[in-house]
Amino acid sequence: MVILLVAFLVVSISARQFSVSGVSSGAAMAIQLHISHSSDVVGAGIIAGPPYYCAQGSSILATTSCMTTPYLINLNSLLQYAQEQSKAGTIDNLSNLTSNTTGVFIFSGLLDTVVNQLVVRQVEKFYGNFISSSKIYSIYSVSAEHAWVTNFWGSACVYLGLPFVNNCLVDGAGLILKQIYGSLQPSVATVSHNLISFDQTKYVNPVAGVMANTGYIYIPTNCQSSPDTCRVHLALHGCSQNFGTVAYSFILENGLNGYAESNNIIIIYPQTSISLSKNPEGCWDWWGFTGYNYALKSGIQISALYQMTQNLPLENLINLDN
Ligand SMILES: *[C@@H]1O[C@H](CO)[C@@H](O)[C@H](O)[C@H]1NC(C)=O
Ligand SMILES: *[C@@H]1O[C@H](CO)[C@@H](O)[C@H](O)[C@H]1NC(C)=O
Ligand SMILES: *[C@@H]1O[C@H](CO)[C@@H](O)[C@H](O)[C@H]1NC(C)=O
Repeated sequence: MVILLVAFLVVSISARQFSVSGVSSGAAMAIQLHISHSSDVVGAGIIAGPPYYCAQGSSILATTSCMTTPYLINLNSLLQYAQEQSKAGTIDNLSNLTSNTTGVFIFSGLLDTVVNQLVVRQVEKFYGNFISSSKIYSIYSVSAEHAWVTNFWGSACVYLGLPFVNNCLVDGAGLILKQIYGSLQPSVATVSHNLISFDQTKYVNPVAGVMANTGYIYIPTNCQSSPDTCRVHLALHGCSQNFGTVAYSFILENGLNGYAESNNIIIIYPQTSISLSKNPEGCWDWWGFTGYNYALKSGIQISALYQMTQNLPLENLINLDN
């Protein structure tokens, strides 16, 4: 009886594991989620984003060393910050990063004029302190501008502009999910009514510039009746790529939903909103406009995103076909 009770308690407190990916500021946030919640995040897909805590709370550093002048990045101070926070318990114990990460995928285009490729290479160096190189797969050899990359949809690979989804003949979605989950069933056609909107106000007070009222979630047909048995992946748009700016372009055309459908993976697409004074491009916070704790578990966006994975948004779903 006692043993049963203990087993029940262990099961009931264990957190749901999930994976993350993102492009640009969404990649920065994906890294922040991975580093801060390393006991629950199993892997990450990073497209064209800076290393953890690169901006150190400064918008000036964000736009200089973390975008265009990578030689100014002091990786040791970023690592030191992470170690200190791990000791303080404001992020998960970093040793989980070593034991619990199954895979990390990193992509940066040769022609990226927004986040210099040498910035993104620091992401790999940062991870290299914790994760064996055999679990990290990086691609730096494609003549791509700053965008999420696909092999079937988007602007020309060298184009810079909305909706920041480029067809580079690179299956970004498949590479990310395979690196995290191992072999996958091939991508299949998506089912339009499986993309649903949900109420983000359950997770966060939707202050302008922080989060929008509405997010999106793709629930594969096989997951509809028992969503809690499916794997969960959080996909984060970049700056100027939230729903308010590009509508469905990112959430329908990034390639993840086709793999989700055939591999029983629920994809959550949280959404930022725009504040002309604080966050005019609707970026995820990677420089501190939401508070000094933006890269820690207590950060307002990190806690909202984490809660979405633990407490799936299955209430207040609105079928977009209706
Ligand atoms: C983190 O985990 C490692 C390995 O389990 C352990 O040695 C260390 O004491 C932990 N650190 C903290 C601050 O809990
Ligand atoms: C994982 O992180 C949790 C929370 O910080 C900690 O309690 C646990 O000891 C860590 N496990 C390992 C293997 O480091
Ligand atoms: C993280 O790794 C540790 C050590 O291997 C393991 O005990 C723990 O169960 C893992 N966490 C999860 C959520 O699987």
